[in-house]
Amino acid sequence: MQTTADSRLAFIGAGNMASAMIQGLLRAGINSTQIHVADPVPEARARLAELGVATYSDNNEAVAGAQSVVLAVKPQVARQVVQSVDALQSEQLLVSIAAGINLASLTQWTSPQQAIVRCMPNTPALLGAGVSGLYANNHCDDKQRALAERLLRSAGTTLWVKTESDLDAVTAVSGSGPAYFFLLMEAMIDAGVALGLDRTSATELTLQTAHGASLMAQQGNTNPAQLRQNVTSPGGTTAAALDVMLDADLPGTIKTALQAAHKRAIDMAQEFGGNPS
Ligand SMILES: NC(=O)c1ccc[n+]([C@@H]2O[C@H](COP(=O)([O-])OP(=O)(O)OC[C@H]3O[C@@H](n4cnc5c(N)ncnc54)[C@H](OP(=O)(O)O)[C@@H]3O)[C@@H](O)[C@H]2O)c1
Repeated sequence: MQTTADSRLAFIGAGNMASAMIQGLLRAGINSTQIHVADPVPEARARLAELGVATYSDNNEAVAGAQSVVLAVKPQVARQVVQSVDALQSEQLLVSIAAGINLASLTQWTSPQQAIVRCMPNTPALLGAGVSGLYANNHCDDKQRALAERLLRSAGTTLWVKTESDLDAVTAVSGSGPAYFFLLMEAMIDAGVALGLDRTSATELTLQTAHGASLMAQQGNTNPAQLRQNVTSPGGTTAAALDVMLDADLPGTIKTALQAAHKRAIDMAQEFGGNPS
């Protein structure tokens, strides 16, 4: 990522997600002196200062003069934090990764002209292997969209969505998605142990199978439904297992589960951002 004297990045909040993004940006070659981070917790600042970035206890000091500002605090404190940042100018790009905080709230807390990109990353971002949904308001120009995309690429891959409400679906699919796969892994490990394997072996078999299946699906030339059919011989072991899963309507359960996550994302927007004042 190219940086110039006027391409300072500010982070408000120095927690897990900010740390992951900053480490990704440094790996991508950004100069650490271009990154300015604010967090009230001395330990959080000290962890990031070790990476060579400038740290502040005052959010306004980090934000002043930055080209873009990443809001990386918990949704519960987002309103209070954003409303207290007087230094933010409408031409500065605000990139929010706060789950469930919508553009209407962010605009209300900043300025009607504020350039904002709302993003929904997920936990594998901590390893640079996340995926983020992005949506820009109409005050962002092409340069700012490209900047937001480069910022989020530090955490993995990116995908622009067509409407802001699509971010609630992104939350249900990929935002919360890692936990669904963790549950499946847990269940497969426990089932392997019940079949007589020791836990270490059951874990290794499960995790490598998840990794291999993901790699095969990511080749992109065959969709997951076809891949499943390809490995399911009639009357074989895989068919025996899949029959049980389909009889229990696993796909229907997953659909209902994602609908619940989607509804929760919508409710959270009201809880943490509603009635902006
Ligand atoms: N982690 C994920 O996988 C994930 C996925 C998608 C979206 N997100 C979103 O990313 C955001 C950050 O998540 P996270 O996991 O990085 O949270 P986190 O580790 O709790 O980081 C938030 C940081 O902000 C600090 N903070 C609190 N109040 C502040 C203030 N007034 N000014 C500046 N900093 C302040 C926190 O300090 P304290 O520790 O003292 O509170 C903490 O260090 C959240 O909104 C979350 O919804 C996270």
